[in-house]
Amino acid sequence: MIDDRQILVAPIQGWTDHVWRTAHAQVFGAAEAYYAPFMRVEHGSIRPRDLRDLLPENNTGIYVVPQVLACRPNDMERMLQAVVDMGYAEVNINLGCPHTPVARKGYGAGMLARPEALASLAQTISQTTLKVSLKMRLGWDDANQWRNVLPLMEVLPIDHVVMHYRLGTQQYRGETLSQFIDETLRDIPVPVFLNGDIDSIATVEALLSRYPQAAGVMVGRALVADPAMLCPDRSLPENYRRFHDLLYDAYSVELTGGDHQLLGKLQALWERLLPDADRRARKAIHKATSLDRYHQAVSQLFDAL
Ligand SMILES: Cc1cc2nc3c(=O)[nH]c(=O)nc-3n(C[C@H](O)[C@H](O)[C@H](O)COP(=O)(O)O)c2cc1C
Repeated sequence: MIDDRQILVAPIQGWTDHVWRTAHAQVFGAAEAYYAPFMRVEHGSIRPRDLRDLLPENNTGIYVVPQVLACRPNDMERMLQAVVDMGYAEVNINLGCPHTPVARKGYGAGMLARPEALASLAQTISQTTLKVSLKMRLGWDDANQWRNVLPLMEVLPIDHVVMHYRLGTQQYRGETLSQFIDETLRDIPVPVFLNGDIDSIATVEALLSRYPQAAGVMVGRALVADPAMLCPDRSLPENYRRFHDLLYDAYSVELTGGDHQLLGKLQALWERLLPDADRRARKAIHKATSLDRYHQAVSQLFDAL
């Protein structure tokens, strides 16, 4: 929190699951809120691992906001009910996922270009007792499509919006379209959190001071790269080591597919974690073919920090 404006943690599918979130809170101090990667319905039911990720007993000591991705009213209804059943009071709706197959079906950012799908979504959401927020982009292929969401806010008590200042068609590339910040802050009638490429606490402070109307910010990839990003005083080798060891221990219990699966998960983690750490050690981590080799490479990396 900076001057009562919040710093939220973004959902990053494949990284910020409950293991990452609870380890992050334990070592670097709990963020004000962790938005969970989206839950979705696949082959007629909610993916079991999405539900497991949200179980309150897997998220002790942190404030988590579940997120749902759906375009069909039935799927949305079912997921909202699951969120209620797990004891949550709040949900976030994904209107930002840029994955083309997802968007083409009218999910995620694809929905921003479909006012009729948004209207049907509004009807479904209006039945829920949950506090509802939106995570969205400026549009799918046009930076005015965020305006299609405004009618939703006239009929629903949307609590806040997190805006990623890119188009869906940009995926995660190219500049954020920060020229739209003023306009969105002016015309969106609920609190807006700024999101996209925020890479340090100095950037957070600069943005919040430049945009006093913003409710706060949301940070994603930079925090996954440096989990101490929001608390530079804890940016110490022993903290990164502890963080890694917590992830290692939790995944070695959670993943039941043997060493190969565990190794794959950990190597994937290092695709984003500490990108500026010793290059040779990082390479050795990725090339490791056994957990023994992996441990040697990780020790080498932490020794060189
Ligand atoms: C690999 C990956 C997975 C993501 N998963 C989700 C997700 O599940 N739900 C969501 O709303 N956004 C998701 N995002 C988008 C981020 O939450 C965030 O909006 C985006 O990365 C921009 O913020 P950043 O530059 O601080 O990372 C994902 C982004 C990446 C790179």
